[in-house]
Amino acid sequence: MYVCVCYGVTDKQIKQAVEQGAMDLKSLQAQLNVGKQCGKCVRDTLEMIAATKDMIPNYYEVA
Ligand code: FES
Repeated sequence: MYVCVCYGVTDKQIKQAVEQGAMDLKSLQAQLNVGKQCGKCVRDTLEMIAATKDMIPNYYEVA
């Protein structure tokens, strides 16, 4: 599903970038340009960042 229509960024691309270390909007914008034009996708992108971060195991909690 497209999250950012302006740059053709999908939810899978955002999820993958967060899993690889892009933990905030600025990092995602540097990689994917998401939210850099009209900005309508920023809120959904922030929600996806938070949801994906919640699914990444915190090694301090596991140990
Ligand atoms: S929809 Fe993402 S910048 Fe316009």
